[in-house]
Amino acid sequence: MIIAETINEVRKYVKEQKMMGHTVGLCPTMGYLHAGHASLVRESAKRCDYTVASVFLNPTQFAQNEDLAGYPRDFERDCRILEENGCDLVFHPSVEEMYPEGFATYVEIQSEMPRQLCGKTRPTHFRGVCTVVNKLFNIVTPDMAFFGEKDAQQLAIVKQMARDLSMDVEVIGCPIVREEDGLAMSSRNTYLNPEERKASGILSDALELGKKLYNDGNDDAEAVTKAMSELIEQEPLARIDYVSAVNAFTMMPVEKLSSDALFALAVYIGKTRLIDNLRLS
Ligand code: PAF
Repeated sequence: MIIAETINEVRKYVKEQKMMGHTVGLCPTMGYLHAGHASLVRESAKRCDYTVASVFLNPTQFAQNEDLAGYPRDFERDCRILEENGCDLVFHPSVEEMYPEGFATYVEIQSEMPRQLCGKTRPTHFRGVCTVVNKLFNIVTPDMAFFGEKDAQQLAIVKQMARDLSMDVEVIGCPIVREEDGLAMSSRNTYLNPEERKASGILSDALELGKKLYNDGNDDAEAVTKAMSELIEQEPLARIDYVSAVNAFTMMPVEKLSSDALFALAVYIGKTRLIDNLRLS
């Protein structure tokens, strides 16, 4: 596996592959990889001839008060996981390589979509995500790009950006990978102490409750999300940011639950903010 730190190196290696007629897959990450990331890499290796992963802790998607400085990092371990799962090239740029002095161009979706859910408490987050993903697409020029469905709003936004800006890339969502008790894999799970880790199962419990109520015939989104919130409130270490039922494509709130709907939630467990979602079918 090749490790490239500059944009020019990545372009050189990708060009060689494209000259041979090979397809290229991209798995964008911020590092501190887990089984969810590994599944993206495996999917790319299965569907594309050449797999590139980026490991870049993107400062533009973090606000001042957020966890950029304390975000976990272990690049050596990341490289082992990437290589084991079939990655061919890892792009590990510096902040200066991605955002040189004078950088001033951002990509932003001008609709309600990025203002829903996580956008309410993280108003500049998706602008940072769109900007860095746009740059990564321009640098790697992938045929396919793989994103986790855990970040459902991010996935919907990246799909919309790729469509709106006629990007020649297929954006592919990969299923959430969960721990045994249902907790969705996340690099931020490492912030949890053992007591909090135990409490964090409440997120997936609430989603399962919502699904059960829907399957039992309750399609009133407000009543079902209220029941989900009440379950979470029983956990003393949990503090709800949002529990919502939204349209899976637009991220706008729905009144009636249907197979196009998605439950999405963000909950603080202690100081750690965790997100999760479940698509109804
Ligand atoms: O999902 C993430 O880890 C990040 O938001 C991404 C897509 C790598 C952009 O920095």
